[in-house]
Amino acid sequence: MSVPTITLNNQTTIPQLGFGTYQVPPEDTAAAVSTALEIGYRHIDTAQMYQNEAGVGEAIKASGLPREELWITSKLNNGFHRPDDARRSFDETLEKLGVDVIDLFLIHWPLPTRYDGDYVSTWRALTELVDQGRARAVGVSNFQPAHLDRIVAETGVVPAVNQIEVHPYFCNEEARAASIRHGIEVEAWSPIAQGAVLDDAVIGRIAEAHGKTPAQVTLRWHVERGDIVFPKSVTEQRIRENFDIFDFSLSVDEVAEISALDRGAAGRTGPDPDTFDYIPS
Ligand SMILES: NC(=O)c1ccc[n+]([C@@H]2O[C@H](COP(=O)([O-])OP(=O)(O)OC[C@H]3O[C@@H](n4cnc5c(N)ncnc54)[C@H](OP(=O)(O)O)[C@@H]3O)[C@@H](O)[C@H]2O)c1
Repeated sequence: MSVPTITLNNQTTIPQLGFGTYQVPPEDTAAAVSTALEIGYRHIDTAQMYQNEAGVGEAIKASGLPREELWITSKLNNGFHRPDDARRSFDETLEKLGVDVIDLFLIHWPLPTRYDGDYVSTWRALTELVDQGRARAVGVSNFQPAHLDRIVAETGVVPAVNQIEVHPYFCNEEARAASIRHGIEVEAWSPIAQGAVLDDAVIGRIAEAHGKTPAQVTLRWHVERGDIVFPKSVTEQRIRENFDIFDFSLSVDEVAEISALDRGAAGRTGPDPDTFDYIPS
């Protein structure tokens, strides 16, 4: 089964379906990622904050897969927005992952109420990593339209992706539209809303009609909208199930019916990026 790829604005190509690792405990990460790689996933999403980059690195090494067949994304932790901290922590990320070059590195959260509102110098520091050949692409996560407008206006460098919360109960259309307007690919985090959409009656009916599960239908909905997804699971059967979404498609009406489940901000599972200010101790 082949996973479609999406060409980013710097001409690198990313597998549209990957494997998420948020809340995968560090000690279980190598096993979970190894299972995903055996099933066929070639795109892994991790973050400094998840404290499991070393486990991802262990699985990459154990897989014996050629480095160029893998797409690895990580993200800058909230405590490291000052440019020197960003550079230092990026070195640690490469070391933990056991790679010389990362495929994609993101600012995890904009933190507009921290660092005197300066996420622009952080963005500039990340763009240097591409110039140095140590990141193939850089991007942002949880950036609202105004945050995107500002970094593009002040640096002239357009992020390759914006990784934001998107699922049927929170379609996040404004941030999606702003990203697309800038030529930025959307990565949809918590694509099944951490399980919250799986008991939905509409999704259940569509799943039954296709002989698929609610998780598969929801992931397929993302794919048909053109977003990049990386569901997380530590359960082998689910990791397999989430990968098996390329042998069916949804009609235009089915996609619209699922999009109509949007509850706006009330549907968020995560924090609001405009006010989120968490810095790990
Ligand atoms: N940039 C950001 O700020 C940000 C924020 C959140 C997430 N992310 C990224 O996005 C990834 C995905 O988001 P997420 O982990 O929050 O949530 P998710 O992928 O929407 O959901 C994961 C949850 O759903 C369960 N699950 C997975 N597949 C299932 C299936 N087929 N049937 C039933 N249950 C299933 C998992 O359980 P088990 O594991 O117990 O099987 C887990 O509890 C993360 O892992 C991370 O890489 C990024």
